[in-house]
Amino acid sequence: MTDTSASDLTLEEKASLTSGADFWTTKAIDRVGPPSIMMTDGPHGLRKQAGGTDHLGLSSSVPATCFPPAVGIGSSFDPEIIERVGAAIGVEAAIEDVAIVLGPGINIKRSPLCGRNFEYFSEDPIVSGILGAASVRGVQSQGVGTSLKHFAANNQEFDRMRASSDVDPRPLHEIYLRGFERVVKDAQPWTVMCSYNRINGVYASEDPWLLTQVLRDDWGFDGVVVSDWGAVSDRVAGVAAGLDLEMPSSGGRTDAQLVAAVRAGQLAESVLDTAADRAIALVRKAQRRPAVSGPLDVDAHHALAREAAGRSIVLLKNDGEVLPLAAEQTIAVIGAFATEPRFQGAGSSLINPTRVDRALDELRAVGGDNVTYAAGFAVEGGDIAASGRSAEHLRAEAVAAASAADVAVVFLGLPAAEESEGFDREHIDLPAAQLAVLDAVIAVNPNTVVVLSNGGVVALPFADRVPAIVESWLLGQAGGGAVADVLYGAVNPSGKLTETVPVRLEDNPSFGNFPGEFGHVRYGEGVLVGYRWYDAKGLDVTFPFGHGLSYTTFSYGDASVSAAENGDVVVRVDITNEGARDGREVVQVYAAPVSSAVQRAPRELKAFASVELTAGETRTVELVVRREDLAYWDVRVDRWIVESGEYRIDVAASSRDIRATATVDVAGDVVSLPLTMNSSIGDVMAHPVAGPIVMGALGGFLGELTGADSSAASMMPNDEAMHKMMASFPIGRLIGFPGVDVTHEQIEQLLEGANAGLLTQG
Ligand code: BGC
Repeated sequence: MTDTSASDLTLEEKASLTSGADFWTTKAIDRVGPPSIMMTDGPHGLRKQAGGTDHLGLSSSVPATCFPPAVGIGSSFDPEIIERVGAAIGVEAAIEDVAIVLGPGINIKRSPLCGRNFEYFSEDPIVSGILGAASVRGVQSQGVGTSLKHFAANNQEFDRMRASSDVDPRPLHEIYLRGFERVVKDAQPWTVMCSYNRINGVYASEDPWLLTQVLRDDWGFDGVVVSDWGAVSDRVAGVAAGLDLEMPSSGGRTDAQLVAAVRAGQLAESVLDTAADRAIALVRKAQRRPAVSGPLDVDAHHALAREAAGRSIVLLKNDGEVLPLAAEQTIAVIGAFATEPRFQGAGSSLINPTRVDRALDELRAVGGDNVTYAAGFAVEGGDIAASGRSAEHLRAEAVAAASAADVAVVFLGLPAAEESEGFDREHIDLPAAQLAVLDAVIAVNPNTVVVLSNGGVVALPFADRVPAIVESWLLGQAGGGAVADVLYGAVNPSGKLTETVPVRLEDNPSFGNFPGEFGHVRYGEGVLVGYRWYDAKGLDVTFPFGHGLSYTTFSYGDASVSAAENGDVVVRVDITNEGARDGREVVQVYAAPVSSAVQRAPRELKAFASVELTAGETRTVELVVRREDLAYWDVRVDRWIVESGEYRIDVAASSRDIRATATVDVAGDVVSLPLTMNSSIGDVMAHPVAGPIVMGALGGFLGELTGADSSAASMMPNDEAMHKMMASFPIGRLIGFPGVDVTHEQIEQLLEGANAGLLTQG
């Protein structure tokens, strides 16, 4: 195997190497050596099917640790814990002889309705990119590969195998591709999984622009592009575009198509050679993994899952310091999720956990008999539903328990059937029956704490009526213990929101353009995704992006900001833990150019750090904003451009809690566009090289035009208005304009001279 390459293989063998043998494995070629390797889901634990195989989580898999899904662990804003979890998943994969774990998923949460949001990190590309890279680094540190998915613009489940995400170039690069670029460049995933959908009409699985130009030529990806399971529509077009591996097996059908296409001269054999060589290189990487023997240390991994879940919980509200609870207080735990936890989402990421913590047991482990329980409502498919007790009966029990306790802790959440891979939600509301129980509880006990279990954001109409809300997302198998840790204060919460909690679904930027119609979804909000939109529109939100409280308080000093030699912006700020408890603060840095030629959000997150501070400690935190992250995608030149000038840097505790602001001058890029007859006078004046030359020659004419006697000028209120109007006048249209004595040849000569000057100077 060591030296095998495509040149040792027959045409049929090459074709066979570039598609799966079955659901989860590649094909071996015994004659020359490449063995078969296995890949399985992913992303937040291992789903290795031992018996029946499918890709939708239907058949069971070997027990594995279910770590918090991305919606949870993303809220940690902490690459370090994500990397450790990744390494643990790598160990579990190695024990099971799995070569590649299918994850992480880093698609942008464009709409809260996307059924798979629980598998994704954020509505922000920098968060998705940094955390995705940490996950890849962790898994791959164990010699196990990853598959960065779903590439790209796969932001909904509805019609996911056909719909075209119609996205303009700026949002495509700045929002939807930026995270992928970061992970590819920073962490080199072994494979990238192309998505099911089309992008601007072209299937991701057969898009040469996406799979070759962007991914390989621009970003330098040198691994294998694998199809999402069943994403191949035209295998020959796919391989020509840069797709290396079709999964799962097509039973040899599409291999034969490749062979025929090469024989017919429709596909260059060298293209197939490249794909086969990449597949061989992947197997070779997998073979280098050091042998790991089991058994799995179930306890150690469960403990890590608990630590990660504790880091993921977001304390949304805590008026009057209702939390943390004290063991001596009497607590009424209400809500079926306390005994029938929702800790992961459905579909291909469904894990068969090694064990599952129940919040009620974990709370009783601390509070003992001071903790009472009433189910309050039934969860579909659970034991309480099966018991057949009526809603009235369950509610009455809850009210009785709440009125007898110091504090009521109400576990609310989304039913499992409402969020899954394969379909989207239709609304963001919690079930009415649960809200009715909450209302009844609040009426008898104002000390009510709400604990939420949900994979996608929910509306919180009760936010003003309860003193405390704990967003516990889906936390994996140890979530019950982690919730108890946070409620009783063994863990000081430090998670923050990686997505906005809107007041109403209708406020979301994708509303009206989601999930599209007749096979097309128009990304009409452009670059204003998530908080960028709410901020640009000045909309109220229930809880903003980046928000999360702690049991201690942090103060921020002034920010000092400087430009490093390589153009990065270095931000330094002192953070002090003002309280009596140790804690972590997620410090955020947002940036925005003070003025810009293109539409920009009021602020965009560019860097963050999860900082651990003991009670009373002050630390200077340094955060680096990469120069390239200040860039916008310039559609005129089809590349990233950093604008020159002043940038405002906000150091913040959330996107709407800015603690320090400074400005920094950034040396930007020059966009050299040749001037044409159609260039506006404004373009000409602004042009760094050509402007002065052309204006020197034309200044006289323009002066005449804006003169007090000119008939054109008299229409305008003043000279400034006249200048503004003239700025949009194409320079070529001056020819023959009354009062402007200039010929076509003269302007042409001026432009040629200016463009030549540009070439020599620019
Ligand atoms: C999902 C992928 C998954 C694959 C294999 C597909 O349905 O979209 O995320 O990795 O199945 O299970």
